Amino acid sequence: MKKQDHWTAFWKQGHTTTFGDFFKEGYRGAIGQWLVDQQEQWPKTGTLLDIGCGNCGLLTGLLASNSRLDYIGLDPAEIAINEHANNFLMTRSNNVSLVTGRGAEETGLADVAVDVAVSVFGFEYSDTNAAAEELARVLKPRAPFSFLLHHSDSVVTRMSGRALAEYQEEDVKAVLAALHTISERAERVALAELKNDAAAEVARLQLNDLASRYLGQRSQDDTNVTMFEFMTSALRFFQIVKKPLQERLAFISDLQMEYDHYCARFRQMISVAADETAVHQLLEHFVKLGFEVKAPQALMDERGLLAWEISGRKLAG
Ligand SMILES: C[S@@+](CC[C@H](N)C(=O)[O-])C[C@H]1O[C@@H](n2cnc3c(N)ncnc32)[C@H](O)[C@@H]1O
Repeated sequence: MKKQDHWTAFWKQGHTTTFGDFFKEGYRGAIGQWLVDQQEQWPKTGTLLDIGCGNCGLLTGLLASNSRLDYIGLDPAEIAINEHANNFLMTRSNNVSLVTGRGAEETGLADVAVDVAVSVFGFEYSDTNAAAEELARVLKPRAPFSFLLHHSDSVVTRMSGRALAEYQEEDVKAVLAALHTISERAERVALAELKNDAAAEVARLQLNDLASRYLGQRSQDDTNVTMFEFMTSALRFFQIVKKPLQERLAFISDLQMEYDHYCARFRQMISVAADETAVHQLLEHFVKLGFEVKAPQALMDERGLLAWEISGRKLAG
């Protein structure tokens, strides 16, 4: 499976940003304010490149602030413009285009085609040295860039670590195997007979045990959210147990794939998060390539550290 497939699966579910409930309609709070502040330093017209754009949450923010910038969203995954941005676009004349199937290392854009580059947790997923070189090629002289990068100590990185730690692989495998057994037995005996079928009954009891472990959790503090959600999804199988075999098998395989993607995305997030040394090394590379850079800042919100904030501009000559 390709790296971008994990993100394609996520964006196809229609999310606007990676942070679900926190930023349902785009960026708010500290990230929203960061975007407003950055815009004050950017040109007011021209072309903005959003690196690792996902479903274009950043475009929503731009349009909400009446920006006149044209927008290119770039992402190796299959992505789409979210509905909030699309609603804005009905009454706006900004040119908007998407480049999918390409990463920041090789954008396919023309030399000096871009007036401002921005990225919210996208740039760091690339080979950042190669992507910085590509950025130097596509940016116009004096054009600014503003990036938020995953911070190794951020709330997001900690939440990703927690989600991965909560994932109980053995129990997930047991649930999938039990669903397969019930599905297979349902093919052999009439549905009404299923509860008298020994193998189906063992599988059902096993599911019951796991359901009461993960769905009957006592307090919010010790709730295993990942497994709560997994079990909730798995039990929807009983809504389709009377459907044809093919549909039941598709349900089980989608469930398995969803959780494979889920873990892979969290692993990626953690692996690309930068500590102070890494972020300084990256900025040194930018300087070698002819950028002027500001000192990195830690972006905070009321929950704590959110991201590294890096910015600068390509020098004139
Ligand atoms: C954490 S998501 C952020 C998406 C979006 N900017 C947001 O804030 O909602 C990271 C994105 O980076 C993309 N990505 C992965 N590798 C990349 C690369 N080499 N170049 C650019 N983007 C990449 C992923 O496909 C994914 O959509």
